[in-house]
Amino acid sequence: MSAYEIKNNIYWVGAVDWNLRNFHGYSTNRGSTYNSYLIIDEKVVLIDTVKAPFSKIMLDNISEIIDPSKIDIIISNHVEPDHSGAIPEVLKYAKNAVVYTSAPAGIKGLTMHYGELPLVEVKSGDTLSIGKRTLNFVQTPMVHWPDNLVTYIPEDNILFSNDAFGQHLACSERVDYRADMDQVFEEAKKYYANIVLPYSMQVKKALDVISTLEIDIIAPSHGIIWKKYISQIIDYYNSLVSHKKHDKAVVVFDSMWGNSAIIANAISDAFITSGVSVKMFNLSNSHNSDVITECMDAKYLAVGSSTLNNGIIPTVASFLCYLKGLNPKNIEYIAFGSFGWGGQSIGIIAKELDGMKYKPLTDNIAIQFVPKPEQLLEIKKLVKSKLTVSETKLIEEGN
Ligand code: FEO
Repeated sequence: MSAYEIKNNIYWVGAVDWNLRNFHGYSTNRGSTYNSYLIIDEKVVLIDTVKAPFSKIMLDNISEIIDPSKIDIIISNHVEPDHSGAIPEVLKYAKNAVVYTSAPAGIKGLTMHYGELPLVEVKSGDTLSIGKRTLNFVQTPMVHWPDNLVTYIPEDNILFSNDAFGQHLACSERVDYRADMDQVFEEAKKYYANIVLPYSMQVKKALDVISTLEIDIIAPSHGIIWKKYISQIIDYYNSLVSHKKHDKAVVVFDSMWGNSAIIANAISDAFITSGVSVKMFNLSNSHNSDVITECMDAKYLAVGSSTLNNGIIPTVASFLCYLKGLNPKNIEYIAFGSFGWGGQSIGIIAKELDGMKYKPLTDNIAIQFVPKPEQLLEIKKLVKSKLTVSETKLIEEGN
């Protein structure tokens, strides 16, 4: 991809990573982009860089606009290597450039990654005149690393938001009004669920600051640049930080011989007939990052596993580990499973979910070997008996 002008003398000069499929455990089925931005003013400024293997692509894009040796300033909004990885390479060309980054975490992080660099520290409220424009810095710690910084240019009403409002999405378009917005919002949701979710309180603080700014463009560090859908993505983030829930259940399981799957289906039926929508995942062929995306706005989560070697199936253990780290809020759970003799899996699941501060919706559901029709009816009755609010809603809706 070539350089792309997003506003007079402000260019996207990043790289599209069409083949990325794994971002430290997050399945990036649609690839990603590493967005870097070049500003031509009295000073030549590069805002963020790209992952190191994409350095040449970025430098080629910069060269379409200006000789990279003319770069005076690099703004490092975030230390994570997908954005800082090409800084050492840029400095080989721009020998007199200096790197502005947040204090203290940005200074420490860049130094620990790359050794001694020509660093200048910035803090919230600091400004830097680059000619006709002024860079305004706002620290946004833990959105989602301690060093996070965003940069705002009031003369252009552009916010360089780094990871906030990003999406892992490789596509040939750079701006929202040219992109498939269903895909963009789908990936923005997945990105929030897998990267930002544990830091919702910090995101809320950042949104409060952002709400005071006049914004025409949000230029994130991954995916599409927001121009036409700014209010929609900000509203969406506001709904995400408030942990807004839907009448939705996620039913997730793995099953040795299909018996835990039969229980999962009975639980799903009970939710559906009570007016609660269901997303069901067999963990033997589903990715944790897709499941967590659905958990984020679900009221209910049913987790099931056969008992295997006195414990749970490893796919379920992996899911619970991933869930614990991201920890979506306000969930009521059901622990279930089939067992042969020990039956430990159901208690293990319940204990893990209790540890995440989730509340049980029902007693644990444990069935020895093959569920009988009358047991499945009992399961449905049990789950439905706990969903009285939704049943009332069904009556109101005339169902
Ligand atoms: Fe896209 Fe936190 O790096």
